[in-house]
Amino acid sequence: MSTCPDVDVALEDVRRGFGATQALKGVSLAVHTGEVYGLVGPDGAGKTTAIRLMAGLLLPDAGRVKMLGENPADTRSPVRESLGLVPQRNTLYGDLSVDENLHFFAQMFGLSRKDFTERREQLLDITRLSRFTDRRADALSGGMYKKLALACALLHRPRVLLLDEPTNGVDPVSRRELWELLYGLVHEGMTLLVSTPYMDEAARCHRVGLLYAGELIAEGDPRELARQHGVAASNFEAVFLALVEKRTGGRAA
Ligand SMILES: Nc1ncnc2c1ncn2[C@@H]1O[C@H](COP(=O)(O)OP(=O)(O)O)[C@@H](O)[C@H]1O
Ligand SMILES: [Mg+2]
Repeated sequence: MSTCPDVDVALEDVRRGFGATQALKGVSLAVHTGEVYGLVGPDGAGKTTAIRLMAGLLLPDAGRVKMLGENPADTRSPVRESLGLVPQRNTLYGDLSVDENLHFFAQMFGLSRKDFTERREQLLDITRLSRFTDRRADALSGGMYKKLALACALLHRPRVLLLDEPTNGVDPVSRRELWELLYGLVHEGMTLLVSTPYMDEAARCHRVGLLYAGELIAEGDPRELARQHGVAASNFEAVFLALVEKRTGGRAA
C-alpha cells in the first residue's frame, strides 16, 4: 500500500526565462511536510530561480507554483507568513550589529516586544551567537553570518524554510554545525528546502532533486539513487555525472 505524503511546496511544469536564457525548462518537484529536500545542482542550474519562484518573488512564465497549497506570489495570501527565506546573497545590514539586525527583522515581521524577547533568546542560543550580539554583521565569519541570516529568517516561526546555498563559502566545521542546526529545526516540525552546489551534501537530505541546466534530471532518496547507480551515497557526484551523461549522451561535462 502506498502512502501519500502531504506536499508543502510544489513546482508543476514550471518554466521561467530571462531574455534568451531558459533558467527553468518545465520543472516539477514536490517537497513533503517535515523533510529536508535538497535542490542540488551546479552553478547556473536554476536553483536560485526555483527558490525565488517558491518564495513568490518571481512569477513563472508557465506552470504553477504552490506553497502550502497557495500561490506564494499572491500578496493577499496569509501563506507568506508561514514562509521563511534565507537568500543566497548577503541580505543583512553589514553596519548593524547582530542584535540590531534581529531587531530590524522582528519589526519587519511585526513581532510583539514579548515575543521578540523570547525568540531572540532562543535563536541566539541555537545559533550560538549569544556572545556576539554587539558585533557588526560584516565583521562576522562566513559561518556566523549565515547563522545570523538564518536566525533572522526564523524570527516569525515559519512552517517552511527555503535556504539558498546556506553552506556555500562556509568552512567545513561551520558547515557541519549549520546542518546540525537545520536537523534541529526539522525535528521541531519544520519543512526545509536547501539548495547546494555541493554533491556531497545530497546524502544529508531526506530527498533530493537534481537540477541541471534548468531541468530536473532525477528526484528521490539520495541513498536509493546511489544504490541504483552502484555507488555509495557519499560518492553522490558519481550519480550526478552518470545522470548528466545519460541526459546529454556524453556531450556535456
Ligand atoms: N535576473 C536574471 N537575469 C538574467 N539571467 C538570469 C537572471 N537570474 C538568473 N539568470 C540566469 O538563469 C540561469 C539560472 O540561474 P540561477 O537560478 O541563479 O542558477 P543557480 O542558482 O543554480 O546558480 C543562469 O544562466 C543565470 O545566468
Ligand atoms: Mg544560486
